[in-house]
Amino acid sequence: MKRTQVGIVGAGPAGLLLSHLLHLEGVSSVIVESRSRRHVEERIRAGVLEQGTVDLLEEAGVGERMRAEGLVHRGIELKFAGAGHRIDLAELTGGQGVTVYGQHEVVKDLIARRLADGGEVLFEAEDTSVHGIDTDEPTIRYRHGGEERTLSCDFIAGCDGFHGICRSAVPAGVLNTFERVYPFAWLGILAKAPPASEELIYASHENGFALLSMRSPEISRLYLQVAPDEAVEAWPDARVWDELQRRLAGGENWHLTEGPVTQKSITAMRSFVVEPMQYGRMFLAGDAAHIVPPTGAKGMNLAVADVRVLARALDSYYRTGRTDALEGYSATCLRRIWKVQRFSWWMTSMLHRFEDDNAFDRRRQIAELEYVTSSRAAAATLAENYVGLPMEAAG
Ligand code: FAD
Ligand code: PHB
Repeated sequence: MKRTQVGIVGAGPAGLLLSHLLHLEGVSSVIVESRSRRHVEERIRAGVLEQGTVDLLEEAGVGERMRAEGLVHRGIELKFAGAGHRIDLAELTGGQGVTVYGQHEVVKDLIARRLADGGEVLFEAEDTSVHGIDTDEPTIRYRHGGEERTLSCDFIAGCDGFHGICRSAVPAGVLNTFERVYPFAWLGILAKAPPASEELIYASHENGFALLSMRSPEISRLYLQVAPDEAVEAWPDARVWDELQRRLAGGENWHLTEGPVTQKSITAMRSFVVEPMQYGRMFLAGDAAHIVPPTGAKGMNLAVADVRVLARALDSYYRTGRTDALEGYSATCLRRIWKVQRFSWWMTSMLHRFEDDNAFDRRRQIAELEYVTSSRAAAATLAENYVGLPMEAAG
């Protein structure tokens, strides 16, 4: 039987960063991941890093490529009733901003560093399951290279995303679930087209929400609000561009740059939290414990904030034998998670078209957008949440 101090399920941003941070503190870990390295490195997802996420990656020595290739943004645009309004993030937050750098690039950097440091990331593991999580010697069982294996650990970190197996291994009745499912989804495309704007544009239109984002000066990332049960086939490229042009339309000289679509997918939207984020010797982190709708650009940043707290708590345990930081993990994370849940729900509610809304609701939405873009106090609350609330000290 193989042994490690911390067994980690999932090689997304949460699992990989946790493994790296533990390594820096001299704590051993093994990551068990169901997908291939290639799949994990090419999965297009988040793109916006909060200042705190950027700082942590830099401090942890994995920020070199992000510094060179990431795009620092000091503002975003909110567009409604055909006009754009800039939120000056830097001016409203004392100089802070966000960095646009694809999640898959963060994942590539972390995998390269783990492997260079001799870390173990077991890709393409099958039938992963966790056992004895309420005992002092939990185990992870999986099949790798055709062989059944058991990994014995001091602790397990469930970093296996929303559809993983760790959360459901907790006995019924222990976790409280809080959830809201939204009556729409996002259709996202990646296109070989220079972004038509240097900054992100969040647009509220009669036909629904649209977002212009990017991955580089040559690659645009664009999203459209669509029906929750929409099929990708219903959206050929020409229809997607047509609708994006309509919803993002701006002044006379503004035109969305089009180009070949290299990726297209539909993502459901939900808010979800389980409490507590711990059972026995298993800790849940990232999407395994909570989901936010992507309108606030917070999912990956929350995953990073969780593992920062967890790595510190585990380090404290291994240095001193004390368990108080580990016992406080869930409460520490949840304080920040609920504030981020509120912000993500608020951005989503303000910018999307809800089927059930009547004329009153639509007027109220426009009034809210007008308020946020004209009141300094209101713009500042958006800005401080968007660049990221302070990461809390562990335990
Ligand atoms: P994941 O990235 O889901 O990683 C979990 C890993 O566990 C995966 O590699 C999976 O293969 C593996 N796994 C699952 N089950 C098993 C199993 N049984 N055994 C072994 N391994 C398993 N967030 C932001 O911060 N900013 C954004 O701009 C943003 N935009 C987004 C846009 C879209 C379209 C989407 C879909 C998400 C967006 N997010 C954004 C959210 C962000 O991508 C997630 O919050 C983030 O991936 C969470 O990281 P994680 O490591 O917790 O989980
Ligand atoms: C992205 O670039 O993928 C992105 C940007 C901002 C969001 C969500 C996703 O709010």
